Amino acid sequence: MSLALVTGGAGFIGSHLVDALVASGHRVRVLDDLSTGHLDNLAHHGDRIEFVEGTICDRSICDMVADDAEIVYHLASRVSVVESVAEPERYREVVLEGTRHMLDAAAGAVVRRLVLASSCSVYGDAPPPISEDARFDPQSPYAAMKAEAEEACRAAQVSTVCPRFFNVYGARQRADSPYSGVIAIFRRFAAEGVPPTIFGDGLQTRDFIHVGDVVRGLMLAAGASSVGRGEPINFGTGVATSVRDLASLIECLPPGFEPARTGEVRHSSASTVQAWERLGFRAEIELASGLTLLD
Ligand SMILES: NC(=O)c1ccc[n+]([C@@H]2O[C@H](COP(=O)([O-])OP(=O)(O)OC[C@H]3O[C@@H](n4cnc5c(N)ncnc54)[C@H](O)[C@@H]3O)[C@@H](O)[C@H]2O)c1
Repeated sequence: MSLALVTGGAGFIGSHLVDALVASGHRVRVLDDLSTGHLDNLAHHGDRIEFVEGTICDRSICDMVADDAEIVYHLASRVSVVESVAEPERYREVVLEGTRHMLDAAAGAVVRRLVLASSCSVYGDAPPPISEDARFDPQSPYAAMKAEAEEACRAAQVSTVCPRFFNVYGARQRADSPYSGVIAIFRRFAAEGVPPTIFGDGLQTRDFIHVGDVVRGLMLAAGASSVGRGEPINFGTGVATSVRDLASLIECLPPGFEPARTGEVRHSSASTVQAWERLGFRAEIELASGLTLLD
């Protein structure tokens, strides 16, 4: 049985990936420092998976966990745009240097491929539908470090691929932090019977992709022979949904409005051509049905 290493595997997306890998018969090892992840997300696996508590900022830990892995899914990251503005050095250390450690560790081991969780934030305000050849225009240290981490993948001595996630949603997404995804936040407001706050006019759009689709795409990216040199591949649906429409789909109370936050992009949706042509991957879960798959 081949061993898959999932860094950030105690987090939202990582824990769903662990579920899918275990279900498809892989041995799984997770490396996570539990800074935003939770062991609760993995508790149902008991001792069927191996959990290593540690940081990707420690090269020796990266060497240890990558040693006998066949595939590395590298999802460990700080994940807040806002926090990255306040703490850019921390983001450099985790998002960029941590990725370099994992790449070097993978290159020195038997790893067949490293799959990097990158982000549509590398595009900044590029006009939609955004294709992978749009130029980098990062608007935050988080986005800038993801862009540099991708470049490190393309220069690495190991096979790599760089899915760029659009707005991922699903069960286990945290609603208790100001940096949570908008769907988790709106659902909490709806459950509490509190009107949500929308920043700006609410006509800004996002491309929401269900975590189940993302996980399927990640596993395809790990195996596809058509990639391996750090190719960026959008993971989105191609459908743009306004924040106002999202609030009504979630049946929120009528929202309040506050001034738009600086640095927020206006419109975002993915071109899905590369994902289909290179990986045979297409998102299948429509937002209205995905919103019923959250518990
Ligand atoms: N959720 C989204 O919409 C979205 C969009 C674009 C990209 N991404 C990327 O997907 C990945 C997973 O994000 P998520 O939404 O599941 O967030 P998350 O916060 O739930 O997961 C990140 C995980 O990484 C762990 N981690 C953080 N720093 C670490 C370190 N130094 N060493 C080891 N582990 C560390 C955290 O404890 C957590 O379990 C991240 O790389 C993120 O940048 C997510």
